[in-house]
Amino acid sequence: MTLAHDIHASVNAVHRAAPGRSPGIAIVLGSGWDAIADQVASPVDLPYQHLPAFPLPGVAGHAGTLRLGQLAGCEVALLRGRKHAYESGDAGAMKGAIRTLAGIGCHTVVLTNAAGSLVTTMRPGSLMLISDHLNIVQRTPLHDEPGADRFVDMANAYDAALRERALQAAAATGIALHQGTYAWVLGPQFETPAEIRMLQAMGAQAVGMSTVPETILARHAGLKVLGLSMLTNMGCGMEAQGLSHAHTLDTAASTAETAARLLAAVLPCLVPAQAA
Ligand code: HPA
Repeated sequence: MTLAHDIHASVNAVHRAAPGRSPGIAIVLGSGWDAIADQVASPVDLPYQHLPAFPLPGVAGHAGTLRLGQLAGCEVALLRGRKHAYESGDAGAMKGAIRTLAGIGCHTVVLTNAAGSLVTTMRPGSLMLISDHLNIVQRTPLHDEPGADRFVDMANAYDAALRERALQAAAATGIALHQGTYAWVLGPQFETPAEIRMLQAMGAQAVGMSTVPETILARHAGLKVLGLSMLTNMGCGMEAQGLSHAHTLDTAASTAETAARLLAAVLPCLVPAQAA
């Protein structure tokens, strides 16, 4: 089957499972961000197994379910689990999922992740709005796209107007929200101390193993992007304590409640103003 066929079948599966629902906002829930799923009203769950364009995620803590429903007064689609490029080497692992979101009518996707902090004052357990990214991996999910539209303009990849509104919503809710550039590394191994120094010198404030391919896919599909990082640890070598996936998950668990509050506060301001 072609990807286009799988996307079509996935869009139809969503329409069949949740007739009349039209989520405008999709949220890809990364490590630590899943707690918000419990707050969804009138949830409808579709396992990724029933959505042929969706990949089966392989990382513990990622469920692999699309949940539709209402959150903070908005119709949303939550992706509980993503596939990372490090699982297969494929930067296009989320291509079918992101295009399905566009197909069901989403205008905006919120991409969330866990990341390492590269700035001493941005502590583990704090949150960062992604203002831009560094595609250190220099891979693309668009390498097999035939059209001229593959030359995607990335100038406003992390929509400036949405970022401004998200910062205001965070401030109004009393949640500290840093802002910075996210560097995508392939992983799954963590960085060396020398790599962390390189990323700092290149101008990154956070480092992680996801999000960037999805941002490229979303912009190619015409979706607006808001990116949010949960800083779970300091970059390797910045502190005496070593890094581990288990430690990352521990910090993520203790930050989950704040992350969910931030998402609930931010969502309403992502809805486009009604035309007069
Ligand atoms: N590096 C890369 N990815 C990450 C990190 C990190 O330090 N923390 C959480 N995801």
